[in-house]
Amino acid sequence: MTFSPSSRGRLTDRDLDRFPSETLFDRLARAVCHAGCLPRKELYEAWEMGRRVRRRLRGGRVVDFGGGHGLLAQVLLLLDDSSPSAIVVDKALPPSSVAVHDALRRTWPRLAGRVAFVALPMDHVPVETDDVVVSSHACGLLTDRVLDLATAARARVAVLPCCHDLAKGTTGDVAGWLDTALAIDVMRARRLAESGYRIWTQTIPAAITPKNRLLMGAPQ
Ligand SMILES: C[S@@+](CC[C@H](N)C(=O)[O-])C[C@H]1O[C@@H](n2cnc3c(N)ncnc32)[C@H](O)[C@@H]1O
Repeated sequence: MTFSPSSRGRLTDRDLDRFPSETLFDRLARAVCHAGCLPRKELYEAWEMGRRVRRRLRGGRVVDFGGGHGLLAQVLLLLDDSSPSAIVVDKALPPSSVAVHDALRRTWPRLAGRVAFVALPMDHVPVETDDVVVSSHACGLLTDRVLDLATAARARVAVLPCCHDLAKGTTGDVAGWLDTALAIDVMRARRLAESGYRIWTQTIPAAITPKNRLLMGAPQ
């Protein structure tokens, strides 16, 4: 049996043998196994997005909108200690986000006191100019809201869109040539660039998720 990174099955201590090395990824995966509650694909998504974001966007407070378990925010702190803190904002924080944070903190005590979990809609949390705003799989138009909140503050931003709203998403005048979801993301990228941002368009491996387009931007 192959070990698919796109599985929604939970990682538990039964999977520890799959992550035997002392690389940062394997240590992270073992901590996630100890937490015993995270779908496997969330580990791979957070890691692959986090690595790409940190090559471009370093330092500043991390703001993880629609952050769910908050793994992405914590991966960003582990990959780059120049960010002092992270805030995970989700209107319905999963109770198991506590177990994930506790497991990571046991492996990396330096995370203690640096990650705040806020159970609020994202519009209630002010964004600062120095922030790095991230959002993995903010469904449909929520990704547009993340981009709006970040650009209003002139903050750096990275989104991995999903669940495109084919009826309401903005497809501009390119929908005749492109798949509708792709047209929506192309228009997002153009809007970000037209707001005075330098943008980067990348993908994470499709074997983890077909919703794998990563859009990053920093004010020029
Ligand atoms: C598909 S999940 C993604 C969770 C996580 N980022 C991940 O990649 O696994 C979308 C999350 O957005 C949250 N959410 C939806 N509307 C929101 C809002 N207005 N403000 C903050 N979070 C919201 C949901 O509760 C859910 O946890």
